[in-house]
Amino acid sequence: MVSNKRLYELALEARKRAYCPYSHFAVGAALLTKSGKVYLGCNIENQSFGATNCAERTAIFKAVSAGDKDFEAIAICGAKEGEAPSKPAPPCGICRQVMTEFCEPAFRILLHGEDGEPKEYTLAQILPLQFDLSEY
Ligand code: THU
Repeated sequence: MVSNKRLYELALEARKRAYCPYSHFAVGAALLTKSGKVYLGCNIENQSFGATNCAERTAIFKAVSAGDKDFEAIAICGAKEGEAPSKPAPPCGICRQVMTEFCEPAFRILLHGEDGEPKEYTLAQILPLQFDLSEY
């Protein structure tokens, strides 16, 4: 089993590969599958800004394209390029929406915490009242 702390460390590793020459804000993500695999992601920017991909979606799309779509948790870290993350970098709205496609409400989201341990949230907490096409 991958601990929260270890998953967050892997997000820090993933962040080293962030491609962010426009915002200079580097983000890393580590996505844990229910079978214990970890997919890493970083933000990948583009000179046409709308084509930028967030770290979370990079990790999720890598996993889905590799045939994995049962997810347990994701650790996310972000800060200005060259600085160590010192506060939470919560996922953007688009990434939260993408999470709802594959993840249950209890899916765990691990962000920077104050005591050396990542702080844990659930998808239901950070995206209440989510859009669910199957309800119509
Ligand atoms: N970014 C992410 O990677 N994840 C988020 O959830 C928020 C924003 C990236 C996108 C862009 O490269 C940079 O952070 C600044 O917005």
